[in-house]
Amino acid sequence: MNIQWYPGHMVKTKRQISESLKLIDVVIELLDARAPISSKNPDIDEIISNKPKIVILNKADLADEKINKEWINFYKSINIVALDVDCITGKNINKIFPSIKNIIKNKLQKDINKGIIGRPVRALVVGIPNVGKSTFINKIANKSTAQTGDRPGVTKSKQWIKVNNEFELMDTPGILWPKFDDEMVALHLAYIKAIKEEILDIVELSIKFIDEIKKSNPNNLKDRFKIEIKDDPTEMLKDIGRKRGCIVAGSEIDMYRAANVLMEEFRIGKLGRISLETPNMIIGVE
Ligand code: G4P
Repeated sequence: MNIQWYPGHMVKTKRQISESLKLIDVVIELLDARAPISSKNPDIDEIISNKPKIVILNKADLADEKINKEWINFYKSINIVALDVDCITGKNINKIFPSIKNIIKNKLQKDINKGIIGRPVRALVVGIPNVGKSTFINKIANKSTAQTGDRPGVTKSKQWIKVNNEFELMDTPGILWPKFDDEMVALHLAYIKAIKEEILDIVELSIKFIDEIKKSNPNNLKDRFKIEIKDDPTEMLKDIGRKRGCIVAGSEIDMYRAANVLMEEFRIGKLGRISLETPNMIIGVE
């Protein structure tokens, strides 16, 4: 698969994040619950160094509930607090600030001892494009101050968002690119639409997707499209096209339309809750 993707500006983003660190108490790392490995910027832990951090598994509504729990337990096992969050319904949003306060309780106590009282806790929200940062900030601040974009990579300038008298948030300065030189990572990012679609061939992408999902979640494909599992994923895409009336020139399958139907239905959760990655896969990846 030929994936053309050019990560400009990472050096600048790294510098901007490093500079922001002195202003903040905690980092909120947003990951996509369906793909916590691929949606993690590989340099972020090095950039934020020893700043306290909370992991938010966002879009948890689209991921397998059981696997979400596995991820939370995995993070717990490495002493990181993680929460499964759904910014659409607001699930677990109310647990974020109590968890943060608990994570930095020693620092807060030290501040009180020094006579620093009433200073808001400042958090930096980091995450790759399309992971849901703007939606998350809007939800948490309960207003529409952050600009949401419908395209990955919408640039946002540095801004503080006052949540209440106790908390302020800063959006990632610059764009935090994901890693994409590993084929699995690149594919997963494309499936979840974190990589711009036009740089990939969607037919090729959806064939790879079927090949993966027919092993991990065969019933989701069978139930949604009323098709059989076959050895050849291309044949399965044709079956999806046939079922959905994606036909051109009389009888030929419109593979492009079939691929779009499949990927769109996966992305909005109509294929059911599917996790692409489990903690078991982390060995050798991180
Ligand atoms: P970003 O700032 O990190 O780039 O992401 P943004 O908030 O713009 O969110 C990207 C898309 O993800 C938006 O959909 C948003 O509604 C969706 N989203 C964010 N959080 C959640 C969540 O918890 N659950 C679900 N199901 N969706 C979530 P969009 O505007 O339709 O964009 P797109 O999907 O067409 O790119």
